[in-house]
Amino acid sequence: MNLLVTGAAGFIGSAYVRTLLASDAPDAPDITVLDKLTYAGSLDNLPLDHPRLEFVQGDIRDTELVGKLTGQADQVVHFAAESHVDRSITGASDFVLTNVVGTQTLLEGALRGGVSTFVHISTDEVYGSVDSGSSTEDHLLRPSSPYSASKASSDLLALAYHRTHGLDVRVTRCSNNYGPHQFPEKVIPLFVTNLLDGHQVPLYGEGANVRDWLHVDDHIQGVELVRTKGRPGEVYNIGGGTELSNRELTGLLLESCGADWDRVTHVEDRKGHDLRYSVDWSKARTELGYRPRHDFRAGLAETVDWYRDNRSWWEPLKRRMGEEHA
Ligand code: NAD
Ligand code: DAU
Repeated sequence: MNLLVTGAAGFIGSAYVRTLLASDAPDAPDITVLDKLTYAGSLDNLPLDHPRLEFVQGDIRDTELVGKLTGQADQVVHFAAESHVDRSITGASDFVLTNVVGTQTLLEGALRGGVSTFVHISTDEVYGSVDSGSSTEDHLLRPSSPYSASKASSDLLALAYHRTHGLDVRVTRCSNNYGPHQFPEKVIPLFVTNLLDGHQVPLYGEGANVRDWLHVDDHIQGVELVRTKGRPGEVYNIGGGTELSNRELTGLLLESCGADWDRVTHVEDRKGHDLRYSVDWSKARTELGYRPRHDFRAGLAETVDWYRDNRSWWEPLKRRMGEEHA
């Protein structure tokens, strides 16, 4: 079986590919990764010499390349995206081009190429902010940022390819992932690496915004369950079960790095900052047997240790981020 995985030089896609390649099960797939290697993608995240892995550098909007790769693939798992909310606020066009146009290009390729299953990776942010309770899969889509609006658009396109053409599309919507290899612009790796370097951490507003934290390996488990046991045309929420305000999260990160609150700088809030996301993942639990296995505190401690032990992975990325902002 040949699995085409997009965006797998990034944080979550690379964890997914590393996990599948580590399996020696007889039905373990051959994997082709298609990734443009934007600022967020790194070949250091992938075991490039693995005999079951082929890496292709390219854009998911390249119709010809996508046509060729989907023609060779049995299934597609689509992670590629512009993924950082703050970047979508300062410039939205790459988000529309990759997340919307790119996803449509892939869906069209999958349809023409006879792909049997297409798993589209989405996000809890498409539901918008929920003050109380948790969003089920049929909750209204009320995205707030250009990022989440572009993801919601791509979800609707993916589901339309199922309704219109009968393509076996499955959509996952997960909460905030954490773990090793996450680009140090996202809050956990940004704060940890700043603290390890003796710098301040920028907490937006009062730090009252709440996120649900999901270990990347639990997310991957959910994606595999959806790919292998899910139903065509269905959406599955994948949650982590650990809701924390950013203030609470910051406290834990300070503690893990042996730092005090004087290392926190309160900075201007993110525009349109969603107060809280929370997904109801009972459908994935009852239908697929999904449940998050990682204890948050233990997972966070391991993640902090990974950043402590892998400076050579993140220091060049932070240098480049510094140059970008210079
Ligand atoms: P990431 O930013 O770490 O990686 C994205 C990858 O996509 C990079 O390797 C990049 O090079 C590649 N890419 C970007 N544009 C491309 C293009 N036009 N063509 C080919 N490749 C391209 O992202 P991530 O955090 O690993 O997120 C993966 C997916 O999961 C995204 O779809 C994101 O919306 C979704 N998601 C992420 C989170 C999270 O907490 N990180 C939570 C929910 C959903
Ligand atoms: O909910 C899923 C989403 O989680 C994914 O779809 C996105 O791809 C992913 O980036 C993430 O989005 P968030 O905006 O929630 O993640 P981020 O790490 O950027 O921010 C988490 C919280 O921390 C948010 O409330 C903003 C706050 N924050 C973030 C940064 C970067 C700060 O207070 N300071 C910061 O410097």
